[in-house]
Amino acid sequence: MATLKKIPLVLMGCGGVGRQLLQNIVSCRSLHANLGVHLRVVGVSDSKSLVVASDVFTKEFNDNLLSEICRLKADHSSLSMLISGFGGECQVFLDSDLRGKLLEIASLLGISTGLAFVDCSASSETVEILTQAVDLGCCIVLANKKPLTSTMEDYDKLVSRPRRIRYESTVGAGLPVIASLNRILSSGDPVHRIVGSLSGTLGYVMSEVEDGKPLSQVVKAAKSLGYTEPDPRDDLSGMDVARKALILARLLGMRINIDSIKIESLYPEEMGPNIMSVEDFLSTGLPLLDNDIGERVRKASLNGNVLRYVCVIEGSRCTVGIQELPKNSPLGRLRGSDNVLEIYSRCYSEQPLVIQGAGAGNDTTAAGVLADILDIQDLFP
Ligand SMILES: NC(=O)c1ccc[n+]([C@@H]2O[C@H](COP(=O)([O-])OP(=O)(O)OC[C@H]3O[C@@H](n4cnc5c(N)ncnc54)[C@H](OP(=O)(O)O)[C@@H]3O)[C@@H](O)[C@H]2O)c1
Ligand SMILES: *[C@@H]1O[C@H](CO)[C@@H](O)[C@H](O)[C@H]1NC(C)=O
Repeated sequence: MATLKKIPLVLMGCGGVGRQLLQNIVSCRSLHANLGVHLRVVGVSDSKSLVVASDVFTKEFNDNLLSEICRLKADHSSLSMLISGFGGECQVFLDSDLRGKLLEIASLLGISTGLAFVDCSASSETVEILTQAVDLGCCIVLANKKPLTSTMEDYDKLVSRPRRIRYESTVGAGLPVIASLNRILSSGDPVHRIVGSLSGTLGYVMSEVEDGKPLSQVVKAAKSLGYTEPDPRDDLSGMDVARKALILARLLGMRINIDSIKIESLYPEEMGPNIMSVEDFLSTGLPLLDNDIGERVRKASLNGNVLRYVCVIEGSRCTVGIQELPKNSPLGRLRGSDNVLEIYSRCYSEQPLVIQGAGAGNDTTAAGVLADILDIQDLFP
C-alpha cells in the first residue's frame, strides 16, 4: 500500500466543537487511510495551556492521548494534568511560553508541510497567531468567527493566501455556504443578493411567534430546550448573526467592519445585561415586548407575509434584523431551527440557490471543520 499523505495539525480550543473534532479524527482513521490521508495531531491548546508532541517532525498524539485530552477537558480539567500520565510523549507550555512555542512549530512545519492551525476557540485573541502562521506558510481552518470579523487589516492578512484558509463552519456550521459562494464567485457569476436566517435560535423564535405565541413564552421555551445561550440576550442581540453576515459580506468583496452593519436587537438597551439580570429579563423585561412583536406578526400576515430574523446583503448594504418576507418563499416556509440561505446571482436570478439544514451543533460544526482540513491536502506533496 502507498504511504499515507500526512497532514499535521494544531488545534486551538478544546470545547464542545474541538473535542468532537478530535473524536471524529480518531473514528475516521480507516476512512481517511482509504483516502490516502493521515491526520497527525501535534498540538492542542486551551485558554491557558498548550500540549505539544515531544518531536513535531516525527511524533504525534496517539489515539489514547487524544481520548485522554477529550476526557480531561470534558471534566473541566486543565491540559497541564496530562504531563503525569503521558510525560514522555508530550510537553506542556503555559501562558507566556505558549505563543512562542506555537510560532516555533509554525516556522518548523509551515512551508514544508502546510501545517494546519485549527481554531475551535471562541476567542478574539487567536487572530495574532493565525496571521503570523499564514505568513509562515501554514494553512488555517476556523470555526471561530472572531478572527475574521475584527479589522479589515487582520482580515486581509488572513485571506492573503486564499487556498490556505478554510472557514466553512463559521457560517451555518457544516452547511456548504462558503464553498458554494466561492464556486459561484470564482466562475464569474456575480452574487447580488443574499438573504439568510443564520441563527437556529432566532429561526425557532420567529416561527413560533408566527403561530401567535407570545415572545416571552417562546424565548423561555427555547431556553429550556437548550436552543439559546445561557443568557438568551446573546442570541436576541443579533450580534452573532451580524458576525456571520460580515463574513459573507467580506467574501462578496465589501470592505466593511462590524460597526457599519445595521443590527436590530430584539430587546431595548434598557433591558441589557449591564442593567438587568437574566432572571429579571425573562420574568419582567421580555413580557413587555410581547405586544409589539405580536402586532408586527399580525400586520405582516395581513399582507400575506411572515416575519423572519435575517441578514440581507445587497449592493453596498448589509443589515441584520426582522424583515417581512413572502409566506411562500424558502425563508417564509422555514419552520424551527434550521438555517436557510437564499443566494441570488446572474445564474440564480429568479429562483435563488437555497441552502438549508441544521446550522449548529458540535457534531455538524466539527464535521465542517474536518472536511475543511481534508480539503487542503492537495496543496502539499
Ligand atoms: N457549537 C456550535 O454549534 C458552533 C457552530 C458554529 C460555530 N461555532 C464556533 O466554534 C467555536 C467553538 O465553539 P464551542 O461551542 O466548542 O466553544 P466552547 O465550548 O466555549 O470552547 C471554547 C474553547 O476554546 C478555548 N479557548 C479560549 N480562549 C482560547 C485561546 N486564546 N487559545 C486557545 N483556546 C482558547 C477554551 O479553553 P478553556 O477550556 O480553557 O476554557 C475552550 O476549550 C466558537 O467560536 C463558536 O462560535 C460553534
Ligand atoms: C456541545 O458540547 C458541549 C460541551 O460538551 C455541551 O455542553 C453541549 O450540550 C453540546 N451541544 C450540543 C448541541 O450537542
